[in-house]
Amino acid sequence: MNPRARISGLGKYLPEKILTNADLEKLVDTSDAWIQERTGIRERRIAADNESASTMAIEAARQALEQAEIDPADLDLVIVATTSPDGLFPATASLVQNGLGAGRAGAFDVNAACVGFLSGLATGAQFIETGAYKRVLVIGTEVLSRIVDWTDRGTCLLFADAAGAVVLEASDRGGPLSFVLHSDGSGADKLFAHGPATRKDIADRDCHFISMDGRHIFKFAVQAMESAAREAIAKAGLEIDDIDLLVPHQANLRIIRATAKALGLPEERAMINVDRYGNTSAASIPVALREAWEEGRLHEGDRVVLMTFGGGLAWGAMVLDWAPVGPLTAAVTPVHATAGGN
Ligand code: COA
Repeated sequence: MNPRARISGLGKYLPEKILTNADLEKLVDTSDAWIQERTGIRERRIAADNESASTMAIEAARQALEQAEIDPADLDLVIVATTSPDGLFPATASLVQNGLGAGRAGAFDVNAACVGFLSGLATGAQFIETGAYKRVLVIGTEVLSRIVDWTDRGTCLLFADAAGAVVLEASDRGGPLSFVLHSDGSGADKLFAHGPATRKDIADRDCHFISMDGRHIFKFAVQAMESAAREAIAKAGLEIDDIDLLVPHQANLRIIRATAKALGLPEERAMINVDRYGNTSAASIPVALREAWEEGRLHEGDRVVLMTFGGGLAWGAMVLDWAPVGPLTAAVTPVHATAGGN
């Protein structure tokens, strides 16, 4: 039997600085009441000047590795999902690999905007399920505050900074049961970044900012997450009622509520922390997963659906069979890699 890619460690890092809706009222023509009603967001975190995608990723990764009781030197691979990397290249993953002291690990970045973490997790799981690697670190990290137009009230209230990480380990239980990833690049102009780029019409050496058609994205979001979740659940051979917890991309409370409703699941079955952190793109799902664990909402054998949407346009979902985090115990027989691993 192929190894399963169990999640053995979860980590998060939130910068200390809090930007409230009241703070935003001083920057743009908006109000706390409007922001809460339309998005559910109350506050968000903003990275300090000496923080970056890689430094925050390293903090989240350390917490995940500590929980898994894995020495960074034993990692086989580091995957970083981000749309706000330290630089265009080298990969932020290489900076994280070095910062952690993961001397044996390969490293690369994944950019699929808010679907980045899910894409990285699906990729990392393949390395384990094929037997190629035994320990893979997958991180989502964003400093969106540096690529937000602080004069645009349609975007600056949504996006923020955070990092989340998971350790995937070869095991005989837990891990993904199914996943689906989709893309429709015809909607690329609905959510994109101006800035350092090689395409001349969007290249701008002096600034870097997100451009979004909020209404278009809103309509796309609910339909995309619902259909992806249904597809992944069916692929796992499950029914909607079998799902114990939804961990949706934290973009907007109204989108999360509408998606849960469209799936026929009560809102209580969805993990929600968008009120405290806003939309942290690739960091959103791993941070929410860590907090679901902290809140005691993840139990052995639970069927957990991760679902997300974003720039691309792109969308996807994954069904996880939850096994307890932490080191492998006697009850869990480690599966040895069959090819290529060391
Ligand atoms: N503060 C106060 N008023 C605002 C405002 C703000 N920040 N932004 C827009 N408005 C006003 C508009 O001018 C408009 O006024 P009008 O009715 O007098 O014309 C009204 O509020 C409604 O604007 P609209 O753009 O239709 O708001 P909305 O309900 O669609 O909410 C978003 C805007 C951005 C919050 C919402 O569209 C959204 O969340 N979209 C999805 C974005 C997303 O998730 N992106 C990330 C993808 S990963």
